[in-house]
Amino acid sequence: MPDNVLSQPHLLGIKGLQRQDLDMLFRTTREFRVVLDRPIKKVPSLREITIANLFFENSTRTRISFELAEKRLSADIINFSASASSVSKGETLLDTVNNILAMKVDVVVMRHPKPGAPHFLARHIPATIVNAGDGTHEHPTQALLDCYSLQERLGDLHDARIAIVGDISHSRVALSNILALQLLGAKVRVCGPPTLIPRHMKDLGVEVSYDLDDTLRWADAVNMLRIQLERQDIKYFPSLREYHQTFGLDLKRLEALAKPLVILHPGPINRGVEITSEVADHPQAIILDQVLNGVASRMAVLYLLAGKPASAPAA
Ligand code: NCD
Repeated sequence: MPDNVLSQPHLLGIKGLQRQDLDMLFRTTREFRVVLDRPIKKVPSLREITIANLFFENSTRTRISFELAEKRLSADIINFSASASSVSKGETLLDTVNNILAMKVDVVVMRHPKPGAPHFLARHIPATIVNAGDGTHEHPTQALLDCYSLQERLGDLHDARIAIVGDISHSRVALSNILALQLLGAKVRVCGPPTLIPRHMKDLGVEVSYDLDDTLRWADAVNMLRIQLERQDIKYFPSLREYHQTFGLDLKRLEALAKPLVILHPGPINRGVEITSEVADHPQAIILDQVLNGVASRMAVLYLLAGKPASAPAA
């Protein structure tokens, strides 16, 4: 295989990717990050490519980030959101997507509430699929941008200690991050209430802790996840106030560490629940770097899957 082609034809998850895929994606992300600092932030790389953004679930930043990445690459794009579509009239996923593909679309970027929906599409339609989040399963571009942002701060992540804190059970960010960090040789620990940490975590080779202060002392970086209330069918902890006291990151906890702990958050932030405003806006928090790197990471994914990797991305 040439060394500038991903091992997969789609980006369905971090599962299935190899270490060399991540390295190539990060190299390409770096090149596009440079483009984003230029006065003219646009390259012609995907000029002949048409991309459909199919969002069957609410999204603000991921949708905008993909759309901007596609525009920066000069692709033609169409946007679709489920609430404004025939899905609410009973159309099946396959019919909806086939109708869009009949208009000659090359790439489908899809967010869907059902785990496995993008894998299903990849088996049934002749387009390149990029998973922008499938239910509680995976969110691969979030993991790519998180790991890229971590490498910017910590360098090589081999043996780096990364903690993921919060609602591990309902978060697609957690699984994709765990898989990507492990491919990069990092040590991963998840921390949260026992009711929000699935039992299979230990089988993934991940440390499990129910003690935030101990986890913060252990970690070089911490990824603070949102409580996914919209996915919770029952009550998993007594109250948001108690959750904040036990698992929320505030200035007192951060300052007690006296070390440059790097703080990530995928957004949207619930200020005062998983993280306080002072911590979200703290110089050790790299949340806005994550947002900018997200555009460059998505440019890299789309370019490597749909572009002509033989030519330089910044050409
Ligand atoms: C994440 C998601 O949708 O899974 N957010 C995002 O992609 N911007 C995390 C979350 O919703 O908490």
